[in-house]
Amino acid sequence: MRADSERWDARYRERDPDRVDCPDPLLVAHRGLLDGHGRALDVACGAGANLVELARRGYEAFGLDGSIEGLRLARRAADRAGVSVSLAAVDLDRFALPRGWFQVVTVFRYLSRGLVPALRDAVAPGGVLVYRTFNVRHLARRSGFAPHFVLQPGELRRWLEGWETIAVDDEAEPAGYDSWIVARRLRDR
Ligand SMILES: C[S@@+](CC[C@H](N)C(=O)[O-])C[C@H]1O[C@@H](n2cnc3c(N)ncnc32)[C@H](O)[C@@H]1O
Repeated sequence: MRADSERWDARYRERDPDRVDCPDPLLVAHRGLLDGHGRALDVACGAGANLVELARRGYEAFGLDGSIEGLRLARRAADRAGVSVSLAAVDLDRFALPRGWFQVVTVFRYLSRGLVPALRDAVAPGGVLVYRTFNVRHLARRSGFAPHFVLQPGELRRWLEGWETIAVDDEAEPAGYDSWIVARRLRDR
């Protein structure tokens, strides 16, 4: 993780700190689901555009990332937007997410299959998981991208079997370079 966080730090350091990123269109398209009550977590939040969007919706917003430089940008983005966020530098390969704690969990452009059970558990019953990252088509346009960091067709649906699927694009022949799902954890009966 250490080498990887240094690589990410270097990338974030190269960025214009005043660059304003837009939240992911998937999150924007599902604003209607985001009632702003409770806690939201953005996993691997990087420079924080999606985290800031969650805070804007009214959530108590938490961002986790391994890159201190990414988190610095996230802090700056939150200050600029006038919202409050809580940030922590963690290695997601080792960090224990609290169970059933978040009404919304989002993950954009990050894939760690080992984390998936903990992500599912972190969502409170009735809460929502939004996950979007690169799929197999991405390998054709980015030679050198590690194949285990892309989603296989149908993978997102398999992860969230037993959840209510609100929207999904996870097809065998994807149109785009990423796949995504928006799904709700069912309430305990
Ligand atoms: C492609 S960026 C995505 C950032 C943000 N989600 C976005 O969409 O703009 C991937 C992020 O994952 C973080 N990351 C990668 N491996 C990590 C790990 N093991 N623990 C914590 N963060 C990690 C990097 O620091 C980086 O900010």
